[in-house]
Formats: sequence, C-alpha cells, structure tokens
Amino acid sequence: MSIQAAPDGARQNQLRHLLKHDCGSCHGMTMKGGLGPALRPNDLTSKSDELLVTVILHGRQGTPMPPWKHLLSKEDAEWLVKLMRIGEVH
Ligand code: HEC
Repeated sequence: MSIQAAPDGARQNQLRHLLKHDCGSCHGMTMKGGLGPALRPNDLTSKSDELLVTVILHGRQGTPMPPWKHLLSKEDAEWLVKLMRIGEVH
C-alpha cells in the first residue's frame, strides 16, 4: 500500500493536534513512548503502513490502544502514519 492521502489544510492541523495531544497522552508528546510504544521513524521501519493504519482505525483488542474509526477516516489514519514516518511530531 502506498500512501497518497492528502487531507485538506484545516484537517491536517486538526490531525497534528490530535497526534500530539490525544495519541501523545499514551505514546508521548514526541512519540517517544509511554503507556503505548514509541512511534518514531526508527521504531516503525519494520512495520507496514497497512498494519499501522489498521491498528489506528481498529485499535488492538486486549490492550489500551483504542479504535479511532469513529473519529478518523482511512485517509486521516494514512496521513497520521505519514507524519509518524517522517517524525514530524514536535
Ligand atoms: C489509551 C492509550 C492510547 C492512546 C490514546 C493511543 N494509543 Fe496507540 N497504542 C497504545 C498501546 C498500549 C499500544 C500497544 C498495543 C500492543 O500491546 O500491541 C498502541 C499501539 C499503537 C500502534 C501500533 C504500534 C506497533 O508497534 O505495532 C500504533 C500505530 C498506534 N498505537 C497509534 C496511535 C495513534 C495514531 C493514536 C492517536 C490517534 C493512538 N495510538 C492513541 C495506547 C494508546
């Protein structure tokens, strides 16, 4: 799967905010890990986009990772993965 998603500018800002504050509450504001694992570029090299998008949308049952499909489209999730891969979370 290659990522082509491009949510519009306003949505991109919302997603950046979500990643830092909501995802960051478990994964760390800079994605260095916390309750959830680190999600920096080096931590993701062995994981496919498809796997990461699936975990974001559906969560991982039996763990604290919740599903986000009610709030995020597939395109949104793909774009979050793109942000994590370039490490653009400050
Ligand atoms: C309530 C805490 C919590 C929140 C909020 C949360 N996560 Fe997670 N996340 C986890 C935990 C814990 C795991 C590890 C699950 C496991 O044990 O496999 C995880 C796993 C993941 C994984 C898979 C990592 C891997 O190495 O397989 C991704 C990707 C991910 N989260 C992204 C996100 C994103 C993006 C958000 C925000 C939209 C988010 N998470 C919000 C707790 C959280």
